[in-house]
Amino acid sequence: MTTDPREIKAVGVLGCGLMGAGIAQVCATAGYRTLVRDVETAQLIRGRASLEKSLAKLVEKGRVSAAQREAALGQLSYTTDLAALAGSDLIIEAVTEDLAVKNRLWVELDSLCGPSAIFASNTSSLPIKAMATVTRRPDRFVGLHFFNPVPLMPLVEIVRADATSPDTFERSLAFVRSLGKDTVVARDTPGFIVNLLLVPYLLDAVRALERGVGSIADIDTAMRLGCGHPMGPFTLLDVVGNDTTLRIADIMVGEYRDARYEAPALLRRLVAEGRYGRKSGKGFYDYSVDPPVPLLSEH
Ligand code: CAA
Ligand code: NAD
Repeated sequence: MTTDPREIKAVGVLGCGLMGAGIAQVCATAGYRTLVRDVETAQLIRGRASLEKSLAKLVEKGRVSAAQREAALGQLSYTTDLAALAGSDLIIEAVTEDLAVKNRLWVELDSLCGPSAIFASNTSSLPIKAMATVTRRPDRFVGLHFFNPVPLMPLVEIVRADATSPDTFERSLAFVRSLGKDTVVARDTPGFIVNLLLVPYLLDAVRALERGVGSIADIDTAMRLGCGHPMGPFTLLDVVGNDTTLRIADIMVGEYRDARYEAPALLRRLVAEGRYGRKSGKGFYDYSVDPPVPLLSEH
């Protein structure tokens, strides 16, 4: 059994959205050859721009040296061609939170990739087992759940599914530690540790808003100053993406049949209106102005 993270040399990242771009950034910064694949060229361009902006910001803050930034940029490449990921030692999937979309990719990659390649999903709420079982390598399948914004958040949840082999687990753990992240180990249950607790809180904030308990700004301020949270729930919902939170809520309520995970009508309305949050320019706040202003006139 080996625990040498250097055994993993080439990382393939699926999806160049909020999470994929951040995951690619930390992998490349840690010295891994990193190839990012998205179906949309526009997303590759957008994700690359945000990754490069983030690296520049980290250099400005002295958290990454200019030489590290140059080295990281040299490790990165971008593609729309799934077959280009065939030589990856580790695939980290960060595409839309939709089991059918993810499983189509896993089936194809299972044929394309070498037998020793490890498959990891960054899913927020889907059981790892539901993906691992569509491949012929459930023993080489693991959950690696990063947090948004990836370059700043220190944690990765390592999800050990029933079939994950000890070797896959150890190699994944060593890999995540080599990125400079802290780890916790979670059982393969929907939402793992963090989202099991965080998602009902975020949905409750929307319900509080619907009931007129307080305004967007006041609920955010209350949780920042009253509980010491770094950002209030609506700012955080806009960071995560309301579209993603809605998908997570729908998956978790389906799994747990618990009203705490039921998506409030207001969240559905925002998503239907394209108000996904920061990534679309509008969510609970309008990001076209600085500082952002709460958007819903009735709240
Ligand atoms: N890369 C580099 N810099 C970044 C960045 C990024 N990706 N994103 C933001 N920044 C910068 C900003 O530009 C800003 O820079 P300036 O100081 O120059 O303006 C700075 O970071 C933000 O600084 P702040 O002083 O506001 O805050 P901070 O540095 O103390 O902390 C934070 C920022 C770590 C994001 C903090 O606000 C925080 O922890 N927020 C909560 C985030 C959270 O809960 N994430 C989990 C979401 S849930 C999830 O991810 C799981 C899921 O499955 C949905
Ligand atoms: P996002 O909407 O920002 O990006 C998703 C990306 O996947 C898009 O660029 C889309 O074009 C791409 N995509 C869709 N189908 C694809 C395919 N077949 N091949 C390659 N790319 C494809 O979403 P996100 O916020 O980055 O979330 C991605 C995953 O990470 C989801 O599973 C989500 O639950 C999870 N996650 C999200 C957060 C968060 O805070 N947003 C945190 C942790 C985990």
